[in-house]
Amino acid sequence: MDRETPGSRLQVFRGTFIHPTDATPVESLEACTLGVNDAGKIVFIDSVDKEEELSQKWHFKRENIRILNPRKEFFIPGLIDTHIHASQFQNMGIGLDLPLLQWLTKYTFPIEARFKDLNFAEDIYTKVVKRTLRNGTTTACYFATIHTESTLKLCDIIDKFGQRAFVGKVCMDINDNFAEYKETTHESVKETERFVAELDKQKYPLVRPIVTPRFVISCTSELMKQLGSFASTNNLNIQSHISESQAEIDAVKKIFPKCKNYTDVYDTHNLLNDKTIMAHGVYLSDEELKLFKRKGASIAHCPNSNISLCSGLMDVRNALNHKVNVGLGTDVSGGYSPSMLDAVRKAVDVSNSLSISSPGYERLSYKEAFRLATLGGSKALGLDKLTGNFEVGKDFDAVLINTSVPSSPFEVYPEDTILDIFQKFLFLGDDRNMEEVYVAGKRVYPFPEVSQSKST
Ligand code: GUN
Ligand code: FE
Repeated sequence: MDRETPGSRLQVFRGTFIHPTDATPVESLEACTLGVNDAGKIVFIDSVDKEEELSQKWHFKRENIRILNPRKEFFIPGLIDTHIHASQFQNMGIGLDLPLLQWLTKYTFPIEARFKDLNFAEDIYTKVVKRTLRNGTTTACYFATIHTESTLKLCDIIDKFGQRAFVGKVCMDINDNFAEYKETTHESVKETERFVAELDKQKYPLVRPIVTPRFVISCTSELMKQLGSFASTNNLNIQSHISESQAEIDAVKKIFPKCKNYTDVYDTHNLLNDKTIMAHGVYLSDEELKLFKRKGASIAHCPNSNISLCSGLMDVRNALNHKVNVGLGTDVSGGYSPSMLDAVRKAVDVSNSLSISSPGYERLSYKEAFRLATLGGSKALGLDKLTGNFEVGKDFDAVLINTSVPSSPFEVYPEDTILDIFQKFLFLGDDRNMEEVYVAGKRVYPFPEVSQSKST
């Protein structure tokens, strides 16, 4: 048997690493060497000139380094989808002809109700985890359905494929338009408790529970109160929807006439804190954004969904100016794409659209949108000590991009700088350019032999 030497479990890569930092939205580290230890942590990233020193300090052989092709390959941090409904995956790309509240009743509740069937759940959840991973989503914050067993099945599948995730059993004790799909208040709380306890027992290293009241319209005050209290007592993350469409806001106002605004409803139910991520926030007022900032709550910006359901154009710049954490979400299937590259593009498109009607508006740059999809998402989910960029001490969550695969959807020219190539990838690239995906140092894509197939 090989004797284990200190560097024998180290993975070392040499090449270009493009990532965001707090100081700059895109930093391109060329001719660098990065080491990942057996716990999946980045232990060094330094210039190639230091490689000899590094190899002695970390006991690795330079001939074992994985060398990337300089102008063709580079690493980016794993993409972070801060808002995705795993249970709506089958509806992705269809049923976008209605506004939010009617869309929920006609398309969304019926498909979610089917997850009572564990076999159906297993099939769809396997597909969503594989699809997102091959698209470079190393971390996802999922909504499942009201069904505890199938939500636990989703956690099991995520763990099996090695993705990092938050998973929420959806809570809803009101559904006037599709009565088959709801719980009693008691069931919703008890099943949330059971879900958290059962998930905890599994000891999956990368899968965590998140308390998930669907949105104000679906939840009684009593349910929100009990979920808020359960989340606080157990120090759990919270996710929901907020201020997505005007009709929704009007309904919330009618239900809670005494609350100052939508954000205040969650706040008075103890659901707004630094572990909270709220999707959409299209119509949040400055006063509400200040409350988000004060409480440390974050926003999952879902531009594809906001456009596809004609919900509205969210002003990300204003949220950032209020120093609110913002991540990006696909919001499948309100959003029709599972790809975080699409979320980056749509975030830029929406910001551009806003600028057309407001001269002097500071548009979101493609670099900023990239930061939202990585570091921004990690902050919004409270995971920035673990993921979001290539800082030493974080887990190696990464996507190896190859711009010259035979089927690449774009061309690279000799005149292109590294940043040009990166920008082309962001705007034109897709999963064909994603050669390998790593989560916590483990290569999770291409999928292991048994399940490997580009067509499934
Ligand atoms: N608000 C409440 N539920 C949902 C949902 O499933 N999708 C979206 N986009 N908004 C919601
Ligand atoms: Fe959503």
